[in-house]
Amino acid sequence: MRYDPFDPAVMADPLPYYRVLRDEHPVHYLETWDTYALSRFDDIWNMLEINDGTFVASEGTLPAAAVLARHNDGPVADPPLHPMPFHANFDSPIYEDVRRCTATPFRPKNVAKLRDRIRVLANERLDELLPLGRFDLTQDYGGIVAASVVCELVGLPAEMAADVLATVNAGSLAQPGSGVEVANARPGYLEYLTPVVERTRAGEPGDLPIVDNLLAYRLPDGSALSDMEAAVQMLGVFIGGTETVPKIVAHGLWELSSRPDQLADVVSDLDANVPVAREEMIRYCAPAQWFARTLRRPFTLHGTTMRPGQRIISLLASANRDEREYPQPDEFLWNRPIARLLAFGRGQHFCLGAHLARLEITIMVTEWLKRVPEFRVDAAAASRPPSSFQWGWNNLPVDVHGVGG
Ligand code: HEM
Repeated sequence: MRYDPFDPAVMADPLPYYRVLRDEHPVHYLETWDTYALSRFDDIWNMLEINDGTFVASEGTLPAAAVLARHNDGPVADPPLHPMPFHANFDSPIYEDVRRCTATPFRPKNVAKLRDRIRVLANERLDELLPLGRFDLTQDYGGIVAASVVCELVGLPAEMAADVLATVNAGSLAQPGSGVEVANARPGYLEYLTPVVERTRAGEPGDLPIVDNLLAYRLPDGSALSDMEAAVQMLGVFIGGTETVPKIVAHGLWELSSRPDQLADVVSDLDANVPVAREEMIRYCAPAQWFARTLRRPFTLHGTTMRPGQRIISLLASANRDEREYPQPDEFLWNRPIARLLAFGRGQHFCLGAHLARLEITIMVTEWLKRVPEFRVDAAAASRPPSSFQWGWNNLPVDVHGVGG
């Protein structure tokens, strides 16, 4: 069995590989990348819990193949302070301090305040889409709603959502053999974000706690972030907030629609059942495949000792389908018990947007099911492009004929 995350065959459908890895090679060494792949739920759960500097994302949480091709002789130091790359590449305290700057809108209380706005955005989209009869469930519905929320969080008008969505989609297309570098070197993304920072620094009024916090932040040497450096710290929100939720909403609705019994169960009490079904949608449909850490200290698992400088990739998408955690993991079962979930990661880098993601999914699924009792996904025209990063249903054409809105 040859598993390589950048192999076109793996990028086209990694799931069969994950099963073999879990059963036979739970700590799988990838010689080309000097990297170990962990595939079992428990191993990843326990590894991500370790927060003592053993693992640092000093080469990025999603390094491209070109980065992994360079083998390290020992631990990789934090990057230079300036120009400052995305903060996830730093160890404590810089990582946590900058993350905190971007965290204000994502606290549960602040997320709850977005409920009505998200509901309005979802219904405005449905008003426009349903009369069309046929459209793209991923991009036209969830994509625009999620990108609109991101726009408003980072100080852009919601009217720019379609542009933002197209930019993020284009940037996340992974090339076989090379992967995708999401967090850094993204001038296209910074063209949206840097002007927002410039305007805030110039005193333009706006309720933008993320930007305010980043401008007030001082690095341990007392220096401040430039406009561009502050914009770079917002990339996680820009990308993470735009691309994952729409794929889960569309794919999750598709799974329900192809199981009429389950759909009827969920619809029988939307307020009680959608939050339950949402967790299964996240487990079953979450598109992110893996995230990386570089070792700073030796780490031993199942008798294999990994050296400082080597990397671990945690195959979260494999953990979501681990039969040791979830019986019959390849079945979609709207109300299966989900005691533990790794789809949002765990520990230090736990998804900043998890509360928002859950709220968005709940609202988008609920509003859809209220207004669209019957719909048919055109499976033959659906597309899930090969990817080492976000392997999800980018395009799901849906027919809603007869539903006027
Ligand atoms: C269901 C949808 C989502 C899923 C499944 C998801 C998944 C993840 C995962 C697995 C990580 C951890 C990466 C790692 O361990 O290196 C992560 C990190 C992150 N996510 Fe999400 N995400 C979702 C939605 C969102 C949303 C809506 C936002 C923001 C609006 C967001 C923002 C972020 C950010 C900023 C990080 C980086 C955290 C850090 O390294 O400090 N995500 N996400």
